[in-house]
Amino acid sequence: MLSPLAWDLGHIANFEELWLVQTAGGREPLDGDLGRLYDAIENPRAGRNELPILRGDDLRAYMSDVRARALEVLEQLDLDDPDDPVLRAGFAHEMLIAHEHQHNETMLQLLQMIDGYEPPLEAPDRPEPPADTEGAVAVAGGTVRIGAPGDGFAYDNERPEHEVEIAPFRIDRRPVSNADFAEFIAETGAEPPLYWARDGAGGWVSTIFGRPVEPDPAAPVVHVDHRQATAFAEWAGKRLPTEFEWEAAAAGADPAAANLDHAAFGTRPPARGSESGCNALGMLGDVWEWTTSELAGYPGFQAFPYPEYSEVFFGRGYPVLRGGSWATRTNVVRTSFRNWDLPERRQIFSGLRCVEVG
Ligand SMILES: [Fe+2]
Repeated sequence: MLSPLAWDLGHIANFEELWLVQTAGGREPLDGDLGRLYDAIENPRAGRNELPILRGDDLRAYMSDVRARALEVLEQLDLDDPDDPVLRAGFAHEMLIAHEHQHNETMLQLLQMIDGYEPPLEAPDRPEPPADTEGAVAVAGGTVRIGAPGDGFAYDNERPEHEVEIAPFRIDRRPVSNADFAEFIAETGAEPPLYWARDGAGGWVSTIFGRPVEPDPAAPVVHVDHRQATAFAEWAGKRLPTEFEWEAAAAGADPAAANLDHAAFGTRPPARGSESGCNALGMLGDVWEWTTSELAGYPGFQAFPYPEYSEVFFGRGYPVLRGGSWATRTNVVRTSFRNWDLPERRQIFSGLRCVEVG
């Protein structure tokens, strides 16, 4: 179940009104009751289409009004006030931009179900894959630093930065591809990814934006849930990484070399230049990679600026996903960023990469 696009847009504007106009600016909301419609916790996805939310011109007028008032407030704010952690170094503003960008990805999950939607941009050229993308690369292990350092914007769940001991391991050079997953289905009869159907000639066709396309054999498989990812890894004689192993393997990866920002409107074969420090390809972008870790707070975790962003999801069986997808905005992607979802969620842009066992 996905939100109507009008709910996401109204929610983006309402969140901006709440944090930048009301909290930071000390002003009253334009319409005090609107906030209730756009509270994500109070209004689960399944009921959002029935809410009396703003639509069309009313929605556009509200969005531009909030933006105008947020910019007025910004003129008057002291972003260097050391005693105001919400405003200091632009935290609230960074959070608002990240929030809007994260909803852009959620909206793409819905857009790709719409028949005939035309991606607005021509897919940019990607560098070719290196000559050899197969096999696994070694990660030394030992003491690794996990999480986001104290300065710069990050979410509360990425902090505090801390040290973790991990054993040496070997991680696949690239994410699991469409060809790999098709082979897994052929051998085991496992369920295909969301949007895949038989093409009538023994192959697969994936229907995105109402258009049937043959999945690129070399591109990462997408729209698999945590159970499918785990089953694939077992079939391959491997396992999924922990989120700390993933973060250690991703260290040094360059977001500028990643397939991000809904530029390509799909996954692409892992490109030259996307190597992380351990030489793994495409750790960032293309697909969110499922891990074995359940979302929980790091030692010393403190909810900031509000517990509903992440703390309320701790210890409730949500596996962590890492790395961002082709639909993730560049501003959101960093190796410490933690995403999470229900184990059965497949409309997200999720795939996997395996770690060798033993
Ligand atoms: Fe939100």
